[in-house]
Amino acid sequence: MRLREFVTENGETQLRVWGDRDVLVVSAPLPGVLRVRLAPQARANGLGFPRLAEKRSFAVCPDLPKAARLSVAEDGDTLRVSGGGLTLHLDRKSGGWRVMEAAVEGAEGRPERELACVLDWNGDAPTARPAMGSETFNLSRSRLNLHAPEDAAYLGFGERVGPLDKRGMHLTFWNTDCYPHHTDTDPLYISVPFTTVVQGDRAHGIFVDETWRMTADVARSDPHGLAFASAGPELDVYVLAGPRPADVLRRYVDLTGHAPMPPLWALGAAQSRWGYRTADDLRAVIAGYRERDLPLDSVYIDIEYMDAFKVWTVNRAGFPDLKAFVREAAKQGVKLVPIIDPGIKAEPGYDVYEEALHNDYLVRTARGDVLVGEVWPDPAVFPDFTRPEVMTWWAGRHKLFADAGIQGQWNDMNEPACFSLAQPRETEGKTLPYDALHGSRPHLEMHNAYANPMSQASRAGYAKFSPNIRPWIISRAGYAGIQRHATVWTGDNAATWSHLGLSLPMIGGLGLSGIPFAAADVGGFGGDTTGELLARWYQAAVGYAFLRNHSAQGTVDQEPWRFGEPYTSIIHAALELRYRLLPHLYTLAYGATRTGLPVLRPLALHHAGDEDALRADSQYLLGKGLMVAPVMAAGHSKRQVYLPAGRWASVFNLAEFGKIHDGGAYVTADAPLHTLPLYLKAGEALPLTEPALHTTQARWERVTWLAHLGESGFVGQLYEDAGDGPVVGRLTRLIGNREDGKLSVRRETEGEAALPEQRETLHIIGLEPVREVHGAAAYSYEDGVLRLTLPAHWEEVTVTWVE
Ligand code: GLC
Repeated sequence: MRLREFVTENGETQLRVWGDRDVLVVSAPLPGVLRVRLAPQARANGLGFPRLAEKRSFAVCPDLPKAARLSVAEDGDTLRVSGGGLTLHLDRKSGGWRVMEAAVEGAEGRPERELACVLDWNGDAPTARPAMGSETFNLSRSRLNLHAPEDAAYLGFGERVGPLDKRGMHLTFWNTDCYPHHTDTDPLYISVPFTTVVQGDRAHGIFVDETWRMTADVARSDPHGLAFASAGPELDVYVLAGPRPADVLRRYVDLTGHAPMPPLWALGAAQSRWGYRTADDLRAVIAGYRERDLPLDSVYIDIEYMDAFKVWTVNRAGFPDLKAFVREAAKQGVKLVPIIDPGIKAEPGYDVYEEALHNDYLVRTARGDVLVGEVWPDPAVFPDFTRPEVMTWWAGRHKLFADAGIQGQWNDMNEPACFSLAQPRETEGKTLPYDALHGSRPHLEMHNAYANPMSQASRAGYAKFSPNIRPWIISRAGYAGIQRHATVWTGDNAATWSHLGLSLPMIGGLGLSGIPFAAADVGGFGGDTTGELLARWYQAAVGYAFLRNHSAQGTVDQEPWRFGEPYTSIIHAALELRYRLLPHLYTLAYGATRTGLPVLRPLALHHAGDEDALRADSQYLLGKGLMVAPVMAAGHSKRQVYLPAGRWASVFNLAEFGKIHDGGAYVTADAPLHTLPLYLKAGEALPLTEPALHTTQARWERVTWLAHLGESGFVGQLYEDAGDGPVVGRLTRLIGNREDGKLSVRRETEGEAALPEQRETLHIIGLEPVREVHGAAAYSYEDGVLRLTLPAHWEEVTVTWVE
């Protein structure tokens, strides 16, 4: 007999169900999201509810709106708990449960649908778990096995190599500094235990909010099972309704938080290298760009700017006056983004160390001593960011950067990486031991969470000292919800063609894991790149959310001009393409902060149910309607491109407008080295601008709309604001309405911003020869493309054509 009770805790209604071996707590935190907290080994305590440990989630937003109400119905042995449009069916005899999506009344084809079905679950009784401090840990303490339908694909799961669909893989959630990684390395730096399950054209999500070390067997050992095993005492499962992948993602970011709006400069070209040591080195790099008229918006500064790798110090020999140098770079339109690592050099007299030690801010060993390891500084100790007072202290340290006028930061080695330990203990990878202590919590539980509060503290630091800017923070490690605090890059990749190819499903998968602004190091971090690889990488990265060329020390220099011609010019053209696309990219970034939809999108996001789109890992969508299909193999000058349903116009390099293709088919793109194959979907319009050497404001004086006329016209969007500071701007929708052989184009705007007088042009692809145009200042028509110059304050343009 299973007992149950309703309780309200912190404003949330929960249903608690328990038997003699396990406990379920059900709630509906948001519409379309059902949470099932499952403690398999918790023993009922007489007739009372067994106390579960207090849950502190690093992922779920602390300020969610009021939870949806629950209702319960009993039907024989089945208990039905409904909330937020989902229903949990619990078999009171077996304890088995499933989550169903309610049928939509009157909507045919939307019958009740099973989203999650438990095959079995299991846990060790608390006594079976070895005490902390012993050498063996039970890494599969709580287990949950969900039914994996044969036709289901599993997207997301955070930062992973391999194809976008993770079916058939065994995944570990344990943030790991691994260099080099390969096409099958697992795990990597980031753990997001969230997947979008796609079945036909329907999708739903499963999120297991556990920071404890965990694994997921994604229909690998058992083709019909998705099995989670956690080292923790419970599994906190969220089931998210669809029906489309974009709906699942929206619900997930409503739950775990929206990414903040990046400043415009962060989307411009960035140069980095582990090897720039001094302000003079950086001066030379900036000059190298400017001499060649290459666009550049930021330079990242690696660990050598510090004094002997001591965080929150500046090496005065290399950087005699950091503030003055920040100002000097700004005059060239360049921002600086310094690195910060969590490891603190254990050196008596060094103030950061002394403060941390004195205030008890550091991670300790199981025996209670301060844990000592080695990172760049050696010996090194580690702040325990999981405690609020440590976060506040760390945030306070950002004054150094804020005072110097720095607006961006690069949080690295925050898995945390630790190369060796003063007292070796059981662990996994180069990090802290399982039994190290964060207050009273073991590292086994806190490891995956470590990077989130570190980046949260960075954001808090800028909010405190530079409240008028939008800080740009990138992090190497992260757990679910990291997007609220920082974006990520994919860590130490390598200068190989396979790594270039890998970057697309990897960034795509991060995007489907709620992290919309991820990117990989352009050119490759480890190993020597080549002119051809670098050029192709810049082309492929035209739609990375940010564009940073970064490489390791000891490798060949890889700034855009290092390989001479034709590569310098080809990279120059790719950078100009990027800057032309900035209005579109910035608008996508704005959209991402509201909907969670990433900048770089796997095709599956918009074409669920299309098996070819699901497997098209070597191309991506930039927004909904621009297909990017880079060449990612040495010596190739052609490639196959999959175009999903719809009509697509080739707009190679955004300049060569060619054929219109019917989608649902593969086409061969001719793409010699200077060419990036791009295709614009019918019905879509993109805002573009002129290339520039660096960004200024996201209020573009020249805007060219590139539209591809569809059956009913086209739609485009443009978000504009100051490019930094408060996110107060104007959203313009360009609407082309096609009716009765006539196209009328107008705009709708929302929000306000003082905008400069804009010079707009509109290029429309896919028109029959034009008969008449009204409302334009000038126009020309050639080869199916109508080019219109729009007058100031235009209201409507109409076009008729020869049928
Ligand atoms: C790590 C980072 C890399 C950085 C290096 C030195 O390997 O991932 O980007 O350049 O450390 O700080």
